[in-house]
Amino acid sequence: MRPPSYKAIVEEFAAAIRSGALPGGTRLPPHRALARSRRIALATATRVYAELAALGLVVGEPGRGTFVRVLSGYDGLDPSRALPVPRVADLSFNQPLAPGQGDLLRRSLRALAASGDTEALLLQHPPGGRGPDRAIVATYLLGRGIDTVPDTVLLTSGTQQALDTVLRGLTRPGDVVAVDALSYPGIKLLAAAHGLDLAPVPVTASGPDLDALDRLCRTRRIRLIYTIPTVHNPLGWVLDHEQRARLAGTARAHDCVIVEDGTYAFLEAAPPPPVQALAPERTCYVAGLSKNVATGLRFGFAVVPPRYAGAVTRALRAAAWGAPGLITALVTGWLADGTVERLERARREDAAARQEIARDVLAGVRVTAHPASYLVWLELQPHQRPDHVADALAGAGILVSTADAFATGAYRPHALRLALGTPPRDELGPALRRLRRTLDEVPM
Ligand SMILES: Cc1ncc(COP(=O)(O)O)c(C=O)c1O
Repeated sequence: MRPPSYKAIVEEFAAAIRSGALPGGTRLPPHRALARSRRIALATATRVYAELAALGLVVGEPGRGTFVRVLSGYDGLDPSRALPVPRVADLSFNQPLAPGQGDLLRRSLRALAASGDTEALLLQHPPGGRGPDRAIVATYLLGRGIDTVPDTVLLTSGTQQALDTVLRGLTRPGDVVAVDALSYPGIKLLAAAHGLDLAPVPVTASGPDLDALDRLCRTRRIRLIYTIPTVHNPLGWVLDHEQRARLAGTARAHDCVIVEDGTYAFLEAAPPPPVQALAPERTCYVAGLSKNVATGLRFGFAVVPPRYAGAVTRALRAAAWGAPGLITALVTGWLADGTVERLERARREDAAARQEIARDVLAGVRVTAHPASYLVWLELQPHQRPDHVADALAGAGILVSTADAFATGAYRPHALRLALGTPPRDELGPALRRLRRTLDEVPM
């Protein structure tokens, strides 16, 4: 029998370490012993351990041997890694990751370290980022139907900071913000932090009630409208062209600023034009790379009309200065070389496949879910209190969010929001089946 190739041995060790079969701290056989047992040359055994070290899986300690590294308890980084503890299915927060993204990061960090001027990464960037980096983001935004110049693109530490900065720059305490009656919870935190009054706009499965928005603007002075027109969180809707034009028209008629949140917009392959394109003079577009690349990167951006750029930039300076240079260098590389586009394509396929799993398992349950999204809005029976149900589900190892988290006013339906993007795909079906069984069993 031929001895195994060094690559096969590396893969065997890597799988054992990732699965927990070789736990952190395990001492691996000395190089000579490995060479003997596998019938490979000593140099090949050394190469196996060097490769495992480069993968971040083992560490060589001079004079003591080679040890399995203690990997973090967080298991979202490598979907193939099964922890030796019972798995909790986290359906409360979307942090999708494609297989191999950890390796991609490792390779890109190495390339970054080996290339060019690393000292430049240690220097402070201007608030909003350097011109060439903003230009790369502006080019990427063309693909989303946003045609803008680099000066109006501000780079931030995630979408949440973009949103914070726009609100900080363009509102004063006491201002009123129109917001969907069910919306992204981060807007509630920011409104409270900035002393803003949220005015909820009733929602339907296909979008906000635009007649109600118009009435609201007639009866109250609305400074700003916060909207998620493409793949809404939590309801998943994608507004059509007419709805977007109406929203832009209402904002124009009542001189409101629009904040358009495009965090999940990449999931819809061919959406109607962004509201930003219909009302560029008053729309701030915020988005980032959390859902399309990785939540832990903390990279986002705001596109602001030129007349607001000064105020928003000052707010960014006061807040935290924007995106760190090292992260910016990494992600602008991925934007420029097509990596982000490739990841977005893979995410669209992934989200569609997960929705199909959910559709199958939840057939007959009252749900609202866009086929392109990672979200499911699940309506409970009138007798089922969302907090009780969430508690029971947590007991069954399933984490979900209740409608309360998304409610911006008094409307608090008996519903749950499921985020489908985090568990490994092959665990989603079993988790949803467990969820369905638990729902049927929740007492009156
Ligand atoms: C609609 C919406 N906006 C903003 C964010 C925050 O994104 P980031 O992680 O880029 O700050 C989220 C995160 O879930 C979101 O769903």
